[in-house]
Amino acid sequence: MKFDTPASENPIDRLTVVGKALDRIDGPLKTTGRAVYAYEHHDEAPDAAVGYVLGAAIAKGKISAMDVDAARNAPGVLAVVTAQNAGKLGKGKMNTATLLGGPHVEHYHQAIAVVVAQTFEQARAASALIRVTYKGEKGAFDLAAARKASPGKHIPKTSVGDFEDAFASAPVKTDRTYTTPDQSHAMMEPHASTAVWKGDELTLWTSSQMVAWGRSEVARTLGIPKEKVRLISPYVGGGFGAKLFVRADALLAALGARAAGRPVKVALPRPLVINNTTHRPATIQRIRLGAQRDGKLTAIGHESWSGDLPGGQPEEAVQQTQFLYAGANRMSALNLMTLDLPEGNAMRAPGEAPGMMALEIAMDEMAEALGMDPVEFRVCNDTPVDPSAPHRPFSQRRLVECLRTGAQRFGWADRHAKPGGRREGQWLVGMGMACAYRNNLVMKSAARVRLDTDGGIIVETDMTDIGTGSYTIIAQTAAEMLGVPLAKVAVRLGDSSFPVSAGSGGQWGANSATAGVYAACMKLRAAVLEKLGYAAQGAVFADGAVTDAEGRSAPLAQAAEHGELVAEDVLEFGDLDKKFQQSTFGAHFVEVGVDAATGETRIRRMLAVCAAGRILNPKTARSQVIGAMTMGVGAALMEELAVDLRAGFFVNHDLAGYEVPVHADIPRQEVIFLDEEDPVSSPMKAKGVGELGLCGVGAAIANAIYNATGARVRDYPITLDKLLGYLPEDP
Ligand code: MOS
Repeated sequence: MKFDTPASENPIDRLTVVGKALDRIDGPLKTTGRAVYAYEHHDEAPDAAVGYVLGAAIAKGKISAMDVDAARNAPGVLAVVTAQNAGKLGKGKMNTATLLGGPHVEHYHQAIAVVVAQTFEQARAASALIRVTYKGEKGAFDLAAARKASPGKHIPKTSVGDFEDAFASAPVKTDRTYTTPDQSHAMMEPHASTAVWKGDELTLWTSSQMVAWGRSEVARTLGIPKEKVRLISPYVGGGFGAKLFVRADALLAALGARAAGRPVKVALPRPLVINNTTHRPATIQRIRLGAQRDGKLTAIGHESWSGDLPGGQPEEAVQQTQFLYAGANRMSALNLMTLDLPEGNAMRAPGEAPGMMALEIAMDEMAEALGMDPVEFRVCNDTPVDPSAPHRPFSQRRLVECLRTGAQRFGWADRHAKPGGRREGQWLVGMGMACAYRNNLVMKSAARVRLDTDGGIIVETDMTDIGTGSYTIIAQTAAEMLGVPLAKVAVRLGDSSFPVSAGSGGQWGANSATAGVYAACMKLRAAVLEKLGYAAQGAVFADGAVTDAEGRSAPLAQAAEHGELVAEDVLEFGDLDKKFQQSTFGAHFVEVGVDAATGETRIRRMLAVCAAGRILNPKTARSQVIGAMTMGVGAALMEELAVDLRAGFFVNHDLAGYEVPVHADIPRQEVIFLDEEDPVSSPMKAKGVGELGLCGVGAAIANAIYNATGARVRDYPITLDKLLGYLPEDP
């Protein structure tokens, strides 16, 4: 099915199952421990040996010698695989660094060997016996220093009007630089894989967001046809972008299993995840805003600097600045520096997440310079069209309604405009807000739907559920389309033998994957009607029965009484995302208390208002948003990978040193979804929300801290040491 004109009324619009706040259908499996994750396939691979990955102990240079004899002869060891004996390996196209390094070392903890043994302890002990001699080279690890030393690769993004001129002549202007640190995804389930070879065919259970990408990557790296690889990822314990691409665990499980001649499982221990896999790169962002005294922005300039390994990508932190606010003169650009830190890559809302952390403080600073309320200042600069391409409207844009609804619900009118104006005992109390913005992407997605002989529905697609609720919204979609109760639908996900879906990334999964299921269900409906001899026009699928325009009716199961009906289709998106700018919008409001003596910040209240198309399941969507808001608290107050500037690695490579919010850090969170549907996004009229919930939270907290204390901190995270100089002398 091709989707190239805005959706008209369709079966989803009945909203008898879709749009309901239903529990996750996979919830009981997960809460009872019966959902089987990548490292736990004891039934399929009962004799699996264990691989332990050895990471490089330098960040850049060469291995001059590697002695693996002692390891190979250690108790329980079955195989030791290094670049020397692994055979010829292709470089995965999507991975900037080689998944099995040597002799060249590209980053710290790049995998240089996997030791396979009977037990985990034996493999780990043996790995410590490998003697590696390195010839280290000097690397670049310091983004700020790299930025001073060279202009890097300059990538212009927007140029509209004459920014420099307009900025120079603006009556009110701000020019500030903000920094965001390297961050880790810190998902619960580490990267893990179990590999089984049968002849030249590989089955790989792995924790992946993108099954089809992973399958191609593994095949390309091993140099075998992708038909020989089956990748299975039914449950994923969090990904946040870290599992968009297969990593060392997948490749080394496959190589280890081939060398040992038996199934092998590999999980990256947490201390290896941080430096072996990917992270969100740090940014330095300069934002210049120029405005008229009435609050209209006339010049918007945003430049960002970030680093990555050679051949890597910039963090697209200026993304939202191209679309969020009106302003006739605009400039944005990225600058990519070469760094020898571990690979930077996508982490939840890549681009907008760190970009909004900077832009929305800058907007708060400009509102203050103008003497305007921060909400009114944003309303004043709303735009119905893409400000860089004025013929191009937004498919939906209800930012102002998000702002107004949020302000009213949060009690924004009670905020003291002057910082430091509110005190409750030991607490300096402040409110802050920020807009939320994230692009809405769409991705081609396929599914297969079966009607079995007793009227049950089975959906098969390689879509993943990374904790987001994919199982549930896909079941809801099929139930709605075919007019059966949710309990009649079985959903099978995450298997490369199923039709290729959108996968989970960039908050495109929910809308795109359910649209693929919609397409397959439309085909199945046609097959059912044909079997029953009903005309398509006016037919209704409801309550387990099919009724035609003449009032004839039959149980749905009757269409399959002589055998299962199967339909498969792919939803392909036309150019509606070019004709319209598709985005999701929201507003974040936060109240903080800052301890007047210590500077400790406690979040007291949080509210998010989201406009993100039709909400397919308000319960799973809300869980996405409150999770994202929690991640925003981490980004604002805690999360920072500390770089060892001499040795080139992240020092705090575990969850003791890399601090993330816990329950006690999170107060009452409220989420409001505006009631909307976006017919331009897909037949589902839905959009993504899982990343929107994060974008802007950090700045709302920073702005609340400023409102509480007068401390304008522009370097995240806002730890208490950065507030000390601003606290009252007599707390
Ligand atoms: Mo997302 S960072 O595209 O998984």
